[in-house]
Amino acid sequence: MPKVTYILRDGERRDIDVPDGTSVMEAAIHNNVRGIDAECGGCLSCATCHVYIDASSTADLPSPDDSELELLGGVAAERRPESRLSCQLVMSAALSGLVVQIPQRQG
Ligand code: FES
Repeated sequence: MPKVTYILRDGERRDIDVPDGTSVMEAAIHNNVRGIDAECGGCLSCATCHVYIDASSTADLPSPDDSELELLGGVAAERRPESRLSCQLVMSAALSGLVVQIPQRQG
């Protein structure tokens, strides 16, 4: 099963096995990962599922589409080149090894 590592605000790392087809946001909610609010439930309208892709990540990520890029313009924490919306990162074997950092705030 693909693996995602979440780096929490306090630096704690959580390694979670995520079923294929499950988003990084959904896996965070299901496993009580603190710091991903996901107020819209994955409808691409809230930007409270913001994460930073960690430099150590080995996953081969697809590029964000125009809708994700537009919403990333409204994130609460600093937007960085490595910013992504975790509801748009759907796990598969190709994404195993993904490492994401939780921003200091979402709202
Ligand atoms: S959960 Fe709302 S944009 Fe990702």
